[in-house]
Amino acid sequence: MKQRILVTGGTGYIGSHTVVELQNSGYDVVIIDNLSNSREDVVDSIEKITNIRPAFEKVDCLDFQALENVFKKYDGIKGIIHFAASKAVGESVKKPLLYYRNNLVSLINLLELMPKYSVDGIIFSSSCTVYGQPDILPVTEEAPIKKAESPYGNTKQINEEIIRDTIASGSPINSIILRYFNPIGAHPTALLGELPNGVPQNLVPFLTQTAMGIREQLSVFGNDYNTPDGSCIRDYINVVDLAKAHVVAMDRLLNNKQLERVEVFNIGTGNGLSVLDLINAFESSTGVKLNYKIAGRREGDIEKVWANPERANNVLGWKAEVSIEETVKSAWNWQLKLREKGIQ
Ligand code: UD1
Repeated sequence: MKQRILVTGGTGYIGSHTVVELQNSGYDVVIIDNLSNSREDVVDSIEKITNIRPAFEKVDCLDFQALENVFKKYDGIKGIIHFAASKAVGESVKKPLLYYRNNLVSLINLLELMPKYSVDGIIFSSSCTVYGQPDILPVTEEAPIKKAESPYGNTKQINEEIIRDTIASGSPINSIILRYFNPIGAHPTALLGELPNGVPQNLVPFLTQTAMGIREQLSVFGNDYNTPDGSCIRDYINVVDLAKAHVVAMDRLLNNKQLERVEVFNIGTGNGLSVLDLINAFESSTGVKLNYKIAGRREGDIEKVWANPERANNVLGWKAEVSIEETVKSAWNWQLKLREKGIQ
């Protein structure tokens, strides 16, 4: 019998790639998504890649009744991967209540329903943003949590605490918290990828849209940081590698192999890359010239952060595998596919 997993935000960028890997690994997947930042035809793409059509329900995690109906309709959900959340840092500063409501209440509703429907565990999408600017690099899971720079970042910190407090209070569930570094790239089939709403705020979608001529020029936010070339450093993780981390984490969660009821893992490559490094990797692997300029710093940016992924390597047996060249090429192929489909 296939084990059944509920994936919230399963038509989104990371969610959709994860559904593919879960199905390829023999899990039975139910997707819920309110489609606020994704499209229902993602379900068709998942089916094309895996030959399995996941169940899909258009449900908002804020709607407790609708959410409960999903647990009633799909008997025997064993695990949850909770992606559904608002994720634009800048928007969260302007609309904090929207972010607190969406991101906190969704998780609270799930945690409330889990014991009633005998769901064993939940994987939560957290972020390296909880570390702020770490004092020691590469950053380990033991690094102190720094005061959040934005309501978005704060929702990640608070949600981690909500999970800990709920389990400490005796709720019969387990959890794995994955702290993602910077997910980029697309599925190698170019059937799935990131579909930003409006002007992209993140580096790679802005970069590929600029290369496509949708945006005139990419601004590199700052070249006066204390880094070798002066631009900020991040740990860019391939989205399929990231998706696979969820599968091994789910195996661990459901087979009760956890040492602790709540476990935290950094999901990154362990390599820091500057903005200029990334642009070079894009130009050399695609042969496409990018129009960019050096601009001023962006408010709230961290100077440099990259992961120590040893715990995930050793305990989960997971390691990032796809090269940066292949990853940026996959992002470009996805952008070409969007043009072909007349989407962007
Ligand atoms: C941040 C958060 C991350 C969150 C993500 C969601 C941190 C460390 N990370 O990622 O947790 O999930 O937002 O949006 O807080 N850049 C340019 N030009 C651009 C866009 C970006 O130079 O047009 C640079 C940025 O200055 C940064 C790098 O590219 O150095 C990556 O930026 P971005 O893709 O926005 O991600 P983060 O800000 O690192």
